[in-house]
Amino acid sequence: MDKYLSMIYETSGYISSILDFTPEIAIILGSGLGALADEVENPVTIDYKDIPNFKVSTVAGHAGKLIAGTINSKKVLVMSGRFHYYEGHEMDIVTLPIRVFAKLGIKNILITNAAGGLSDALNPGSIMLIDDHLSFMCPSPLRGANLDDFGPRFPDMTSIYNKDLLALADSCAKELGLNVEHGTYCYFRGPQYETPAEIRAAKLLGADAAGMSTVPETIVARHCNMNILGISLITNKAAGLGKTELSHEEVGATARKAGADLVNLVKSIITKWNC
Ligand code: HPA
Repeated sequence: MDKYLSMIYETSGYISSILDFTPEIAIILGSGLGALADEVENPVTIDYKDIPNFKVSTVAGHAGKLIAGTINSKKVLVMSGRFHYYEGHEMDIVTLPIRVFAKLGIKNILITNAAGGLSDALNPGSIMLIDDHLSFMCPSPLRGANLDDFGPRFPDMTSIYNKDLLALADSCAKELGLNVEHGTYCYFRGPQYETPAEIRAAKLLGADAAGMSTVPETIVARHCNMNILGISLITNKAAGLGKTELSHEEVGATARKAGADLVNLVKSIITKWNC
């Protein structure tokens, strides 16, 4: 068997040997959003270092734990910490967890991130529901022989982010009295933050938010035909648009401060998600 496929099977086999249920929704937590992991009831926690083929997170604010359990009786599998291209991982490793989730039979995924705001409406603390993305800077995680067991060679990307889930997120936000924006997320490889010129270029191309994650994972989740919801927590104005220079510490601090609203929103969405 192809080495990569056998890695996927090895990892999913290990995780399913520990879980006694099939999760309904996978959740990926971005920088500083780890507080959501505390909301999981009856948690079974697995350290990434114990999971075959998982990498240890090298980024501050990423715990490196997989947590299975329930949130308001929905069965969830939460990744607290993800793998980034900028850490030196190839795209097949960055997206391995998604293929493992697919192999485990998970059909739904909620992907969160911290991002910089480009559009005027997006300020530190804003929540943006991702309507679409720009992947120009993203080496395709589907490059190479197609994994026919997971999806087609040329998957459609017209509706990556599920319209019904976006409507559900809107109605949950309304019920909670939370303001949410919609927009296009632009992927940058990092780890350096963007230059003001890059941000101006991205804005011209239609970007509303900029970040260093999410797009590889959503491309693979779409290939696997999962129902995808993506949410950005805006932690800063993107380069050149704010008064201060950018720092990971500021991103983490804002994410932790503003994260409480996002945690409430995510709990409500999970509760009402039609699995
Ligand atoms: N750019 C890229 N990634 C980010 C940013 C940003 O401004 N803020 C948080 N993650």
